[in-house]
Amino acid sequence: MNLKQELIEVSGYEKVVKFEEKGSGLIAIVALHSTKLGPGIGGTRIYPYATFDQALVDVLRLSKSMTYKAGITQVGVGGSKSVIIADPNTQKTPQLLKAFGEAVNTFEGQYICAEDIGCTPENIDEILKTTKYACGVHNLRGSGNPSAFTAWGTLLGIRSVLQEMDGEDSVQGKTIAIQGVGSVGWRLAEKLFWLGAKLVISDINTNVAKRYSHAYGAQMVDPEDILFEKCDVLSPCAMGGILNPHSIPHLNCRAIAGAANNQLLHHSDADLLMQRGILYAPDFLVNAGGLINVVNELCVAGYNANKAKEMTQGIYDQLLYLYEIAQQQGVSTHQAAVDLVDYRIDNNIGKRTEELCFRFDPALA
Ligand code: NAI
Repeated sequence: MNLKQELIEVSGYEKVVKFEEKGSGLIAIVALHSTKLGPGIGGTRIYPYATFDQALVDVLRLSKSMTYKAGITQVGVGGSKSVIIADPNTQKTPQLLKAFGEAVNTFEGQYICAEDIGCTPENIDEILKTTKYACGVHNLRGSGNPSAFTAWGTLLGIRSVLQEMDGEDSVQGKTIAIQGVGSVGWRLAEKLFWLGAKLVISDINTNVAKRYSHAYGAQMVDPEDILFEKCDVLSPCAMGGILNPHSIPHLNCRAIAGAANNQLLHHSDADLLMQRGILYAPDFLVNAGGLINVVNELCVAGYNANKAKEMTQGIYDQLLYLYEIAQQQGVSTHQAAVDLVDYRIDNNIGKRTEELCFRFDPALA
């Protein structure tokens, strides 16, 4: 294997490296944003980016948001991410995944990869043949699909905004609009259905939208309308950047709590939400259940679903705390969350003290 590496200097990032391996066709970028609180854990996105620059922008944005997600939940890890430029349907071969594992090894444990869009827990099994620095292994051995924990955390996010606005967190009779009923969205819809919420859902995949509106008695609306539906809580569970100066003036919700990464197009969009009196639960805390679950897999004691659930439960109290300090300081909830993580990083608060355990070491297989 002839793995080529090229360092890319990016201000504000600890290390960004491009990898190429001709035999397997690997072209990948790994971005370490911050490892001040612990090794950087971040998913590997496999996507056919049209240009290298698009892939670079994506990996930088995603790795930085992992730093904030990790810092706010205090799981003792840092922020990083990787992308492989390839079509997951046609170019994702075992050779490609193994070459990527070799790329991960070059960080000597400072980068730990995990599943993401285009990269399944089964693909992680393949990557684990050449590196031990991977997590999110399928259920029989590891923590499995993180979406169940992410959906649980998102439900807690919805309850937290209701608690803050109404003084009680029951979703019974409340209207919740979910944008995107994929892995996280349908699991969230199911929980809300059983808890008595009124659901409005939308998905660009019409079959999926039909299936879940039928299953959970939900009103189905067109993808272009979902953001503007009258509801108590809007729950974005699809794409980033959907909260922006074009959409915010037309939102018809009282609060927002969803799983999608990077919901705000710009930081300043959090101020626009505040001006409109819409309570925003910061996305990187709402959707941290998946990260909490995957970090649990690397505990010395081994993966424990109950422990991961208990830790995920902490999202609720953290959110209520953020609403309180945002109000005290007169800043948006997003700004309060960013300031809190920056403070923790500057003061080493939540820094990892226990070694991570890599029990799927290929050398031991
Ligand atoms: P997914 O790919 O399984 O589901 C996304 C769904 O959104 C798909 O059904 C897609 O058709 C739909 N969609 C895309 N654009 C849409 C639009 N404009 N309007 C309506 N529907 C649209 O992804 P998954 O895993 O459910 O993740 C959802 C979001 O949560 C993503 O932003 C992801 O990055 C984020 N997230 C997911 C985590 C997880 O554990 N799966 C963890 C943390 C964040």
